[in-house]
Amino acid sequence: MENLDLYAKIEPMIGFYEAYENLYRHYLKLLQGYDVQSILDVGCGNGKLLQKLSEKYRATGIDISAKMVAIACEKGLDARHCRLEEVRETFDAIVAVADVLNYMEAETLQPFLEQVFSRLNPGGIFLADINTWHGFAEVAAGSMNVDEEECFLAIDAEFEEDVLQTDIVYFEQKGSCYTRESATIMQYYHSVDEVAARSPMKLIGMQDVSLFSMEESDKTILIFQKA
Ligand SMILES: C[S@@+](CC[C@H](N)C(=O)[O-])C[C@H]1O[C@@H](n2cnc3c(N)ncnc32)[C@H](O)[C@@H]1O
Repeated sequence: MENLDLYAKIEPMIGFYEAYENLYRHYLKLLQGYDVQSILDVGCGNGKLLQKLSEKYRATGIDISAKMVAIACEKGLDARHCRLEEVRETFDAIVAVADVLNYMEAETLQPFLEQVFSRLNPGGIFLADINTWHGFAEVAAGSMNVDEEECFLAIDAEFEEDVLQTDIVYFEQKGSCYTRESATIMQYYHSVDEVAARSPMKLIGMQDVSLFSMEESDKTILIFQKA
Protein backbone atom coordinates (compact mmCIF):
# COMPACT_ATOMS: atom_id res chain seq x y z
CA MET A 1 0.00 0.00 0.00
CA GLU A 2 2.32 2.70 -1.25
CA ASN A 3 0.02 5.65 -0.59
CA LEU A 4 -0.36 4.73 3.06
CA ASP A 5 3.39 4.16 3.29
CA LEU A 6 3.99 7.77 2.23
CA TYR A 7 1.46 8.82 4.85
CA ALA A 8 3.51 6.84 7.40
CA LYS A 9 6.59 8.81 6.38
CA ILE A 10 5.01 12.25 6.63
CA GLU A 11 2.85 11.61 9.72
CA PRO A 12 5.47 12.98 12.17
CA MET A 13 5.43 16.29 10.20
CA ILE A 14 1.71 17.04 10.33
CA GLY A 15 1.28 17.62 14.05
CA PHE A 16 -1.56 15.17 14.75
CA TYR A 17 0.08 13.31 17.63
CA GLU A 18 -1.23 15.54 20.42
CA ALA A 19 -4.82 15.30 19.13
CA TYR A 20 -4.45 11.54 18.75
CA GLU A 21 -3.29 11.24 22.38
CA ASN A 22 -6.58 12.88 23.31
CA LEU A 23 -8.46 10.40 21.12
CA TYR A 24 -6.62 7.46 22.75
CA ARG A 25 -7.70 8.69 26.20
CA HIS A 26 -11.34 8.39 25.08
CA TYR A 27 -10.77 4.82 23.85
CA LEU A 28 -8.88 3.71 26.96
CA LYS A 29 -11.64 5.10 29.18
CA LEU A 30 -14.40 3.45 27.15
CA LEU A 31 -12.59 0.09 27.22
CA GLN A 32 -12.51 0.20 31.02
CA GLY A 33 -16.28 -0.33 31.00
CA TYR A 34 -15.97 -3.85 29.51
CA ASP A 35 -14.42 -7.16 30.44
CA VAL A 36 -11.45 -7.19 28.08
CA GLN A 37 -8.40 -9.45 28.26
CA SER A 38 -7.45 -9.65 24.59
CA ILE A 39 -7.64 -6.86 22.01
CA LEU A 40 -6.89 -6.35 18.33
CA ASP A 41 -5.96 -2.88 17.03
CA VAL A 42 -6.87 -2.83 13.32
CA GLY A 43 -4.93 -0.11 11.49
CA CYS A 44 -2.53 0.16 14.45
CA GLY A 45 -0.27 2.55 12.51
CA ASN A 46 2.95 3.38 14.32
CA GLY A 47 1.73 1.57 17.45
CA LYS A 48 1.25 4.56 19.76
CA LEU A 49 -2.11 3.27 21.01
CA LEU A 50 -1.06 -0.37 20.71
CA GLN A 51 1.75 0.37 23.16
CA LYS A 52 -0.74 1.69 25.74
CA LEU A 53 -3.09 -1.24 25.10
CA SER A 54 -0.21 -3.70 25.56
CA GLU A 55 0.35 -2.37 29.09
CA LYS A 56 -3.18 -3.48 30.11
CA TYR A 57 -4.29 -6.20 27.69
CA ARG A 58 -3.03 -9.01 25.48
CA ALA A 59 -2.78 -6.72 22.48
CA THR A 60 -2.10 -7.37 18.81
CA GLY A 61 -2.01 -4.81 16.01
CA ILE A 62 -2.39 -5.16 12.27
CA ASP A 63 -1.92 -2.63 9.49
CA ILE A 64 -1.87 -2.74 5.69
CA SER A 65 1.09 -0.33 5.58
CA ALA A 66 4.37 -2.26 5.87
CA LYS A 67 6.13 0.94 6.90
CA MET A 68 3.73 1.56 9.79
CA VAL A 69 4.10 -2.03 10.98
CA ALA A 70 7.91 -1.74 10.86
CA ILE A 71 7.73 1.35 13.13
CA ALA A 72 5.38 -0.46 15.57
CA CYS A 73 7.58 -3.59 15.62
CA GLU A 74 10.65 -1.47 16.50
CA LYS A 75 8.80 -0.68 19.75
CA GLY A 76 8.68 -4.41 20.55
CA LEU A 77 4.94 -4.64 19.89
CA ASP A 78 3.01 -7.57 18.41
CA ALA A 79 2.23 -5.82 15.12
CA ARG A 80 1.65 -7.67 11.86
CA HIS A 81 1.53 -6.57 8.26
CA CYS A 82 -1.70 -8.27 7.20
CA ARG A 83 -5.38 -7.84 6.50
CA LEU A 84 -8.10 -8.66 9.01
CA GLU A 85 -9.18 -11.74 7.03
CA GLU A 86 -5.71 -13.25 7.62
CA VAL A 87 -6.01 -13.05 11.42
CA ARG A 88 -6.86 -16.44 12.92
CA GLU A 89 -7.45 -15.59 16.61
CA THR A 90 -10.56 -14.12 18.22
CA PHE A 91 -10.59 -11.23 20.71
CA ASP A 92 -12.66 -9.70 23.51
CA ALA A 93 -12.34 -6.30 21.84
CA ILE A 94 -11.34 -4.87 18.48
CA VAL A 95 -10.57 -1.21 17.84
CA ALA A 96 -10.11 0.74 14.59
CA VAL A 97 -8.80 4.15 15.55
CA ALA A 98 -8.27 7.46 13.73
CA ASP A 99 -9.97 7.27 10.34
CA VAL A 100 -9.56 3.54 9.63
CA LEU A 101 -13.25 3.14 8.68
CA ASN A 102 -13.10 6.31 6.60
CA TYR A 103 -10.46 4.74 4.35
CA MET A 104 -13.11 2.25 3.25
CA GLU A 105 -15.67 2.85 0.55
CA ALA A 106 -19.29 2.14 1.47
CA GLU A 107 -19.21 -1.24 -0.34
CA THR A 108 -16.19 -2.48 1.61
CA LEU A 109 -17.57 -1.45 4.99
CA GLN A 110 -19.98 -4.36 5.29
CA PRO A 111 -17.46 -7.15 4.48
CA PHE A 112 -15.01 -5.48 6.88
CA LEU A 113 -17.60 -5.33 9.67
CA GLU A 114 -18.47 -8.99 9.03
CA GLN A 115 -14.77 -9.84 9.43
CA VAL A 116 -14.71 -7.91 12.71
CA PHE A 117 -17.81 -9.83 13.88
CA SER A 118 -16.19 -13.19 13.10
CA ARG A 119 -13.06 -12.29 15.10
CA LEU A 120 -14.91 -11.15 18.22
CA ASN A 121 -15.65 -13.48 21.12
CA PRO A 122 -19.35 -13.63 22.14
CA GLY A 123 -20.18 -10.39 23.98
CA GLY A 124 -17.05 -8.81 22.50
CA ILE A 125 -16.98 -5.14 21.60
CA PHE A 126 -15.84 -3.19 18.58
CA LEU A 127 -14.89 0.48 18.98
CA ALA A 128 -14.21 2.65 15.95
CA ASP A 129 -14.35 6.31 15.09
CA ILE A 130 -15.71 8.00 12.01
CA ASN A 131 -15.17 11.57 10.92
CA THR A 132 -18.26 13.75 11.16
CA TRP A 133 -19.31 15.77 8.14
CA HIS A 134 -17.96 18.85 9.95
CA GLY A 135 -14.68 16.96 10.54
CA PHE A 136 -14.27 16.40 6.82
CA ALA A 137 -15.64 19.67 5.45
CA GLU A 138 -14.26 22.12 8.01
CA VAL A 139 -11.28 20.40 9.59
CA ALA A 140 -9.66 17.96 7.14
CA ALA A 141 -10.24 19.94 3.94
CA GLY A 142 -7.64 22.59 3.14
CA SER A 143 -3.95 22.98 2.43
CA MET A 144 -0.84 22.63 4.55
CA ASN A 145 2.85 23.18 3.78
CA VAL A 146 5.63 22.07 6.09
CA ASP A 147 9.13 23.30 5.35
CA GLU A 148 11.88 21.57 7.33
CA GLU A 149 15.64 21.71 6.93
CA GLU A 150 15.98 18.74 4.57
CA CYS A 151 12.42 18.12 3.45
CA PHE A 152 9.33 19.88 2.25
CA LEU A 153 5.75 18.68 2.41
CA ALA A 154 2.67 20.01 0.62
CA ILE A 155 -0.79 18.65 1.41
CA ASP A 156 -3.95 19.67 -0.40
CA ALA A 157 -7.26 18.13 0.64
CA GLU A 158 -10.63 18.67 -1.06
CA PHE A 159 -13.97 17.40 0.22
CA GLU A 160 -16.62 16.97 -2.45
CA GLU A 161 -19.68 14.74 -2.61
CA ASP A 162 -18.78 12.99 0.64
CA VAL A 163 -15.25 12.07 -0.52
CA LEU A 164 -12.05 13.64 0.82
CA GLN A 165 -9.19 13.54 -1.65
CA THR A 166 -5.83 14.32 -0.07
CA ASP A 167 -2.90 14.95 -2.40
CA ILE A 168 0.51 14.69 -0.78
CA VAL A 169 3.80 15.82 -2.32
CA TYR A 170 6.99 15.25 -0.36
CA PHE A 171 10.52 16.41 -1.27
CA GLU A 172 13.59 15.18 0.55
CA GLN A 173 17.13 16.44 0.10
CA LYS A 174 19.62 13.74 -0.89
CA GLY A 175 23.04 15.36 -1.24
CA SER A 176 22.68 18.15 -3.80
CA CYS A 177 19.38 16.78 -5.22
CA TYR A 178 15.82 16.44 -4.02
CA THR A 179 13.75 13.27 -4.36
CA ARG A 180 10.03 13.73 -4.97
CA GLU A 181 7.30 11.36 -3.81
CA SER A 182 3.58 11.86 -4.19
CA ALA A 183 0.42 10.05 -3.20
CA THR A 184 -3.32 10.54 -3.17
CA ILE A 185 -5.36 9.22 -0.27
CA MET A 186 -9.13 8.89 -0.53
CA GLN A 187 -11.41 8.96 2.49
CA TYR A 188 -15.17 8.48 2.53
CA TYR A 189 -17.79 10.05 4.75
CA HIS A 190 -20.13 7.54 6.43
CA SER A 191 -23.03 8.52 8.66
CA VAL A 192 -23.58 6.69 11.94
CA ASP A 193 -26.78 5.14 10.54
CA GLU A 194 -24.96 3.88 7.45
CA VAL A 195 -22.26 2.13 9.50
CA ALA A 196 -24.82 0.71 11.94
CA ALA A 197 -26.96 -0.61 9.06
CA ARG A 198 -23.96 -2.48 7.60
CA SER A 199 -22.85 -4.00 10.89
CA PRO A 200 -23.83 -7.48 12.12
CA MET A 201 -22.94 -6.19 15.60
CA LYS A 202 -25.37 -4.04 17.59
CA LEU A 203 -24.60 -0.35 18.03
CA ILE A 204 -24.81 0.07 21.81
CA GLY A 205 -23.37 3.54 22.23
CA MET A 206 -21.50 6.43 20.73
CA GLN A 207 -19.43 9.36 21.84
CA ASP A 208 -18.80 12.63 20.04
CA VAL A 209 -15.27 13.97 20.28
CA SER A 210 -13.65 17.24 19.25
CA LEU A 211 -9.98 16.85 18.49
CA PHE A 212 -9.25 19.76 16.21
CA SER A 213 -12.42 21.83 16.30
CA MET A 214 -13.86 23.98 19.07
CA GLU A 215 -17.26 24.50 17.46
CA GLU A 216 -18.56 21.02 16.69
CA SER A 217 -17.43 17.44 17.12
CA ASP A 218 -15.11 16.25 14.35
CA LYS A 219 -15.27 12.53 15.18
CA THR A 220 -17.76 10.09 16.63
CA ILE A 221 -16.63 6.94 18.41
CA LEU A 222 -19.06 4.08 17.80
CA ILE A 223 -19.43 1.21 20.25
CA PHE A 224 -20.69 -2.10 18.86
CA GLN A 225 -21.28 -5.38 20.67
CA LYS A 226 -21.49 -8.93 19.38
CA ALA A 227 -24.54 -10.57 20.94
C1 LIG B 1 -4.56 7.73 10.32
S1 LIG B 1 -3.74 6.21 10.55
C2 LIG B 1 -4.10 5.87 12.25
C3 LIG B 1 -3.18 4.86 12.81
C4 LIG B 1 -3.37 4.50 14.27
N1 LIG B 1 -4.64 3.83 14.51
C5 LIG B 1 -3.20 5.70 15.15
O1 LIG B 1 -4.10 5.96 15.96
O2 LIG B 1 -2.17 6.39 15.05
C6 LIG B 1 -4.79 5.04 9.73
C7 LIG B 1 -4.13 3.69 9.60
O3 LIG B 1 -5.07 2.75 9.09
C8 LIG B 1 -4.38 1.85 8.23
N2 LIG B 1 -5.41 1.16 7.44
C9 LIG B 1 -6.26 1.69 6.54
N3 LIG B 1 -7.11 0.77 6.07
C10 LIG B 1 -6.82 -0.39 6.73
C11 LIG B 1 -7.34 -1.73 6.69
N4 LIG B 1 -8.34 -2.06 5.88
N5 LIG B 1 -6.79 -2.67 7.48
C12 LIG B 1 -5.75 -2.35 8.29
N6 LIG B 1 -5.19 -1.12 8.35
C13 LIG B 1 -5.73 -0.15 7.60
C14 LIG B 1 -3.41 2.75 7.50
O4 LIG B 1 -2.33 2.06 6.93
C15 LIG B 1 -2.97 3.69 8.63
O5 LIG B 1 -1.83 3.19 9.31
